Amino acid sequence: MRSRQLWNLKIFMPILVAFCLIAHFVWYEMHRVELHIPMHSKQIVDIEKTTIDARPVQKSAGGVDHEIRFAERRKRLQLGCDKHRNQASFGGVQQMLNSRLLWLNRENIIVCMTPKVGSTSWCNYLLGHYHNGSSTWEGIGSPQAVARRLLAPQPGLTGEEKLQQLTSFTKILTVRHPFGRLVSAYRNKAEPCINRTGCYARRNNLPLPSKPLFKDFAEYLIDTVKVPVLADAAAYKSFDIHLSPFFLNCEVCDLNYEYIVKMETWDDDLSYLLPKYHIKYVDKAYGAILNSSDVSFQYFKTLPESLVLKLYEIYKIDFELFGYSLDGYLK
Ligand SMILES: *[C@@H]1O[C@H](CO)[C@@H](O)[C@H](O)[C@H]1NC(C)=O
Ligand SMILES: *[C@@H]1O[C@H](CO)[C@@H](O)[C@H](O)[C@H]1NC(C)=O
Ligand SMILES: *[C@@H]1O[C@H](CO)[C@@H](O)[C@H](O)[C@H]1NC(C)=O
Repeated sequence: MRSRQLWNLKIFMPILVAFCLIAHFVWYEMHRVELHIPMHSKQIVDIEKTTIDARPVQKSAGGVDHEIRFAERRKRLQLGCDKHRNQASFGGVQQMLNSRLLWLNRENIIVCMTPKVGSTSWCNYLLGHYHNGSSTWEGIGSPQAVARRLLAPQPGLTGEEKLQQLTSFTKILTVRHPFGRLVSAYRNKAEPCINRTGCYARRNNLPLPSKPLFKDFAEYLIDTVKVPVLADAAAYKSFDIHLSPFFLNCEVCDLNYEYIVKMETWDDDLSYLLPKYHIKYVDKAYGAILNSSDVSFQYFKTLPESLVLKLYEIYKIDFELFGYSLDGYLK
């Protein structure tokens, strides 16, 4: 009886181990996606699903889990920048355009502003801190205009000192899904032209028909931008500011960003990050508004796949550097 049990165990254990190995392998394969991009490149893009990153992290007293997630984002960015150095780097901090940085000198932080990516909220937070919580600055101009004026390097610094601070301050960047941002830019800057004359696209003479559909907007972008998009002044100028890729706008491969905030996890990220710099987190709105992938999918459904892939070519580097995928955007 004993030896029979032992014999059963000898057969059973290897089977169990083999089963566990296979199950693990299947699970691993199910949790990655391979996107086959036909068209311009035969290249296979292997993007890990971002669902884990998008999930709110468990809060622990010391905020360790948040730091782990930020570290993962930093690591991904660094690997991508190493891989695409020639395309994505301006060639060092001295060469940067450095146009979108807001300096909060008292906290030694620098935040890069990208339009359509929470920039107004950031201006409000930083200006609130600058004015010690009073709202005296409100109404004297748009938050962006006031912020550009007040949130600058301390006056009187030499170029060398500025550069030194640019290196030593903690730098923060905010990103979101590139296609979500594109839909947001269309809905805010071009779609209103369908019913109104006073709209951004008209005022700025964007070459669009009088009732621009999302497809027109996509075609306009594809026609005005040269791919591959390189980190240089000419490429930067070829984009309307609401559409320029993050890697151009915030010079992400030249500045050493410590914190990459994602709009998809805005509440979770900022409720942890802002108090570190003595800023009270109040804005609850974005979490709901920004989980709008369903809306983005609807707009993208109006585009033929060939256009979707051309748009992907434009934002490919951003997709890779920040871990976004085409899930849901291709039929
Ligand atoms: C905020 O407080 C600091 C320190 O008390 C002070 O130096 C600064 O001038 C104040 N800023 C404003 C805009 O009131
Ligand atoms: C334009 O106006 C029509 C009719 O007034 C309305 O049904 C439609 O939703 C409006 N479109 C936009 C984009 O505001
Ligand atoms: C976003 O919305 C989708 C459905 O609309 C839901 O499945 C998903 O869990 C939401 N994500 C977050 C981070 O709230």
